[in-house]
Amino acid sequence: MTDIYAEAGVRMVELEVDGQPVTVREGATILDACKKAGIHTPTLCYGETLRPANVCRVCVVELEGARVLAPACSRLAEAGMKVLTDSPRVRHSRKLVLEFLGSSVDLSTAPEAQLYVQQYGADSERYGPPAPPSGDRDRARAGHHRVPDGQTAATVHQPVKIDNDLYVRDYSKCILCYKCVDACGEQYQNTFAIHVAGRGFDARISTELNVDLPDSACVYCGNCIAVCPTGALMPRSEYELRERGEWKPVEQTVTRTVCGFCGVGCNLDLVVQDNQVVRVDSPDDHDITRGNLCVKGRFGYEHVQNGGTKRPLT
Ligand code: SF4
Ligand code: SF4
Ligand code: FES
Repeated sequence: MTDIYAEAGVRMVELEVDGQPVTVREGATILDACKKAGIHTPTLCYGETLRPANVCRVCVVELEGARVLAPACSRLAEAGMKVLTDSPRVRHSRKLVLEFLGSSVDLSTAPEAQLYVQQYGADSERYGPPAPPSGDRDRARAGHHRVPDGQTAATVHQPVKIDNDLYVRDYSKCILCYKCVDACGEQYQNTFAIHVAGRGFDARISTELNVDLPDSACVYCGNCIAVCPTGALMPRSEYELRERGEWKPVEQTVTRTVCGFCGVGCNLDLVVQDNQVVRVDSPDDHDITRGNLCVKGRFGYEHVQNGGTKRPLT
């Protein structure tokens, strides 16, 4: 098959992935080369619509002749590179990353991460049972760490934040991938309502001065929810159904439509369960939205349901 980039006169790069010759356009990443070679690479902090944050390290690969492993999501493919995606070093490193995440973060609503845990035989329990909640992580101060007891695994547990009608933040499930920060900041929303606070193990996502969302700069676009890979950020409708044990993905349908609130033409994917809209997303590959919406598209759907508006927009 002829490559459209080669046809368009774009410079191409030839490399090897697991012994397979691959040609990609100049500027492509190793992850792009792996995809082209049909090799699946685990990713968590990488998002199709965002620039790589390069923080989770679950995508690392081995490069022949290189001392350290390289993140496939952000390292550019170079001519003559010999990439190994399944060597013992790669598998060991990915396994460790997943074990650390599994021991400290609640991955119960992160199916992709769970799949990787299985695939790499990551055994988080070898660090011991989860330590008791360490108090309010939001008040952690740099340099004031509790000394671990050596028997239990420290976790990022903290109470679920339910401070508005539209979405909840459960940072016990946060792997600190930065995607929400990037989506809220200069890559999409330009609202900068959230960022990383604290350092090291105390680092967590926070509003400015840790105020509740309604008191923050948040405009409830939900673009942070759309990119969150772990369910740490979740529409309240979904959260409440899950809490009641009534979230049933197998019974849900997804209907694509066009938002009628204005003339931009954003595509909406309406997730419907029991004849009720329970969540709204937007496709990543849509030219206009790139997966993003405004508060009206994301949350302004209750008027289409029987019984009219039950909950006012905040
Ligand atoms: S809902 Fe929108 S504005 Fe609010 S924190 Fe998320 S991305 Fe930022
Ligand atoms: S809340 Fe979600 S998107 Fe934000 S850093 Fe945590 S895991 Fe990533
Ligand atoms: S997916 Fe590459 S570092 Fe996270």
